[in-house]
Amino acid sequence: NTILLNDQFIDREQSSVNIEDRGYQFGDGVYEVIRIYSGKMFTGKEHITRLFESAEKIQLTLPFTEDELTENLYKLVEKNKLDTGIIYLQVTRGVSPRQHQFPLDGKAVFTAYTKEVARPEAQMNEGVTAIVADDVRWLRCDIKSLNLLGNLLAKQEAFSQGSFEAILHRDGTVTEGSSSNVFIIKNNTLYTHPATNLILNGITRREILRLCPGIGLEVKEESFTLDELYEADEVFVASTTAEIMPVIKVGAKAVGSSKPGEWSKKLQETFKASIQ
Ligand code: PDD
Repeated sequence: NTILLNDQFIDREQSSVNIEDRGYQFGDGVYEVIRIYSGKMFTGKEHITRLFESAEKIQLTLPFTEDELTENLYKLVEKNKLDTGIIYLQVTRGVSPRQHQFPLDGKAVFTAYTKEVARPEAQMNEGVTAIVADDVRWLRCDIKSLNLLGNLLAKQEAFSQGSFEAILHRDGTVTEGSSSNVFIIKNNTLYTHPATNLILNGITRREILRLCPGIGLEVKEESFTLDELYEADEVFVASTTAEIMPVIKVGAKAVGSSKPGEWSKKLQETFKASIQ
């Protein structure tokens, strides 16, 4: 298994973490997860651009251009002969004696590796359950930061209750999932939280919004409440790995008739066509 360390392709066993890497000590870095379908990056450009945007928001200068990174990621996929899976990539502010302020001579550390991940077809067909949880995260959720404790605590709560996802809310307003964006459909209109500082503007989210006009589904990028979530005709969450994942139960409350809804299925079909 070959990984990418800065601009070097090395064996996974030959890599190690420096104990004073700021990613390791502070979560001082940003990351991306990119889907690979049939050996090709899906919406690779959007993910790479978002990585550069996240880096800029934390004043981290990346030691390569978008084109150089794209080329190396393609080489990485090829070297690992990956057909269906993901690339995980992250960049930290690098290694320096531990202090909170940024090091003056910091050198970013970039790593990327691939992993086989199947499309979650059974779950997408049957739907999953979700819980709701308080969104206790910070106010810069637009940055795809390595600091994920708020997300992890929520996901763990969902997992321990046998649920797929935790749907987060701030004072009753739904923001996003612990590792996904959240959508409801009510009276043939799709609602999702606007792309503000309170959510990550998912690439899958953008793809869904792009596909809606083609199937005649009206879109409102407007936030909705927990009550509206419970009363929705359809609910789904979306991410790079989960794609479009119907939610058939939120907490103890069934969504619609406890089956993936018609609009959700239509979006899944359209999405599937767009990845082929
Ligand atoms: N998570 N919101 C949060 C908090 C996320 O962590 C993610 C993705 C998304 C969806 O973004 P996208 O469609 O670009 O994948 C929204 C990734 C997959 C992860 O951390 O594994």
